[in-house]
Amino acid sequence: GTPELVDRYQRVATDLRVSLIDKCNLRCHYCMPAEGLDWLPARELLTTREVVRLVRIAVERLGVTELRFTGGEPLLRPDLEEIVAAAAALSPRPGISLTTNGISLRSRAAALAAAGLDRVNVSLDSVRPETFRRITRRDRLADVLDGLASAAEAGLRPVKVNAVLLPGVNEHEAVELVRFCLAHGYEPRFIEQMPLDAQHGWDRSAMVTADRILELLSESVRLTPATDDRGSTPAERWLVDGGPGTVGVIASVTRPFCGACDRTRLTADGQLRSCLFSQEETDLRALVRAGADDDGIAAAWREAMWGKPAGHGIDDEDFVQPQRPMSAIGG
Ligand code: GTP
Ligand code: 5AD
Ligand code: SF4
Repeated sequence: GTPELVDRYQRVATDLRVSLIDKCNLRCHYCMPAEGLDWLPARELLTTREVVRLVRIAVERLGVTELRFTGGEPLLRPDLEEIVAAAAALSPRPGISLTTNGISLRSRAAALAAAGLDRVNVSLDSVRPETFRRITRRDRLADVLDGLASAAEAGLRPVKVNAVLLPGVNEHEAVELVRFCLAHGYEPRFIEQMPLDAQHGWDRSAMVTADRILELLSESVRLTPATDDRGSTPAERWLVDGGPGTVGVIASVTRPFCGACDRTRLTADGQLRSCLFSQEETDLRALVRAGADDDGIAAAWREAMWGKPAGHGIDDEDFVQPQRPMSAIGG
């Protein structure tokens, strides 16, 4: 067979997203309840060695060329630098990025860059302390802004900023967020909310759609389509006032991009998911802990990806949200 992670629809997964921990130090309303969730017990998390082994198999035997570490909040893993360094030592060397809430980036950006991290995406829904606290239930805006600046200083560029807009909460701060990002050299992206919240409270009619986002932004800035290659990002990008600054929209719900999906996912407890919305998982941790060899693990990975669904099916009559919430999948 082919070495690549190819599925029935001829898509090839070259981008691996690894969730390193399900815990988080924020409590964003659209993600988890105030009290948090039942976190995975430590023995169920992949160890440093286990993560590194699975990443090595993906890169060396399965054609993965891009790695992204996510959470929960991946900076809560003290071994992140070690994992990044091991990933950067693989050949061919993969691209390595991080999706984080930015809170402890200030103290770690330089070490992460030295370990081989290429770039970061930071979640930030508002630059107003009040709104930030209302959405995340924590008073940490200053830490996130510090983290962003440290990431840019450490050369972890481009720094992308992810924002989810909520009607009546931060919807009307969209332009302010764009201006803040462009003034600091960050790339803002707005994300349509997906039905992946732990509370199962997603409501399509309360989602700020891509059309609405573009309409809101167009009241204050001039948007023209960015014509450079989109690459594998899910974001559609627009030049702001002629550029060079851009704004992205990730329209997973109203303009799905599943047909071009190049992703495979590993959860913090070692479950392989072929899609964000998969109903099935493949227990790679069990294989690893039972002493499987690299060939066996690679074969199980290929087989799981072959069964990747055509798309998320959010619009289907019989759509069922996956049991596992966003914070335990890694986004
Ligand atoms: P870049 O390559 O830097 O553009 O990264 P990214 O946008 O893929 O990653 P990031 O972790 O910043 O995710 C931003 C948003 O895109 C999050 O809400 C993710 O859940 C969402 N996202 C990432 N990959 C996929 C995907 O394959 N499908 C869908 N539907 N959403 C995705
Ligand atoms: N839908 C879309 N994006 C979400 N995120 C968290 N929950 C959701 C959701 N239900 C975003 C976070 C973070 C990124 C990884 O995913 O804001 O920026
Ligand atoms: Fe944490 Fe991300 Fe969820 Fe916010 S959206 S609570 S940063 S996992």
